[in-house]
Amino acid sequence: MSLIEDLKSLKETAVKRINATEADIEALRVGLLGKKGELTLLLKGMKDVAPEDRKTVGEIGNDVRQKITTLLSEKKAAIEEQRLNEQLASETVDVTMPGSNHHVGQPHVLQQIIDEIEQHFLGLGFEVIDDIVDSPEVETDEYNFERENLPKDHPARDMQDTFYITPEILLRTQTSPVQSRSLEKHDFSKGPLKMIAPGKVYRRDTDDATHSHQFHQVEGMVVGENITMADLKGTLLSIMQELFGEKHQIRMRPSYFPFTEPSVEVDVSWNEVTPDMKPEDIQWIEVLGAGMTHPNVLRMDGIDPEKYSAFAFGLGPDRFAMLKYGVDDIRQFYLNDVRFLSQFNRKGN
Ligand code: PHE
Repeated sequence: MSLIEDLKSLKETAVKRINATEADIEALRVGLLGKKGELTLLLKGMKDVAPEDRKTVGEIGNDVRQKITTLLSEKKAAIEEQRLNEQLASETVDVTMPGSNHHVGQPHVLQQIIDEIEQHFLGLGFEVIDDIVDSPEVETDEYNFERENLPKDHPARDMQDTFYITPEILLRTQTSPVQSRSLEKHDFSKGPLKMIAPGKVYRRDTDDATHSHQFHQVEGMVVGENITMADLKGTLLSIMQELFGEKHQIRMRPSYFPFTEPSVEVDVSWNEVTPDMKPEDIQWIEVLGAGMTHPNVLRMDGIDPEKYSAFAFGLGPDRFAMLKYGVDDIRQFYLNDVRFLSQFNRKGN
């Protein structure tokens, strides 16, 4: 009976084809069992089978369909499992692999020092003034010089060679103009003025190892009743010990600034000072200028010098960094060579 033979041979080839397929199981199913599939077409031959044989042929047909259906679904499951395994294998994370290195930057060494100074003074209850409105780098001659007790013909103006934009507008040569700007805004009914003002300053210097036409200052000022030189000394000692270490001392030498009277230069001990040390064994280095604010300055800002007294200081982060790290050329700070800058990490992280 040829239909039976055909069914059997279809079963054999179908098994082979299903086993051999790698992917397109659906196309195979349609090709075998679909409306125009091979089995369907074969079974159309049933109508020519003698009635007494139909049962046998029908059973064989069913058996073939059953076999093909089972094989197809097994194969489909196997292919899916294999795909999943491949995906899992390809997406595996090996937690023992070395990680990729991300370079983490850090603030510029001068900014690190300024941050440290700010933190210290914030802790002492000072306010930090560094915004463009209250601490502008483009200043007027009035705030940079005249209100700092430096009238137009004052010889001390020569100490600070100035970049003028117009005869009345300039790049500030010092952060001292922030003194007047904060004083005129301060409400003394709320207590004394205690501020620091870090920022950039400019001088018409020829750049060399110790001069830069642009550098940094941190201005400091305290104005209130009964502010004395002892307050100034205590404040400066605290910031110098913060920056250089607890075992360092400061000393004051007389100096001259038009906006302070008396004026002092402040030195910090380069070596650590111990109680048994002879004075001549202490090495001093000059770190900043300071003094008691001149009555003229207070008066020009509308403050009564009979009622209020004040001190001010101007500290140079560039100079501090050079001393601290033994940098012998100030221009290094402004070249922004990462090989140089990446050496400095005051927080140690
Ligand atoms: N402004 C001064 C300078 O640039 C420093 C200073 C500030 C001195 C405040 C005394 C008081 O040299």
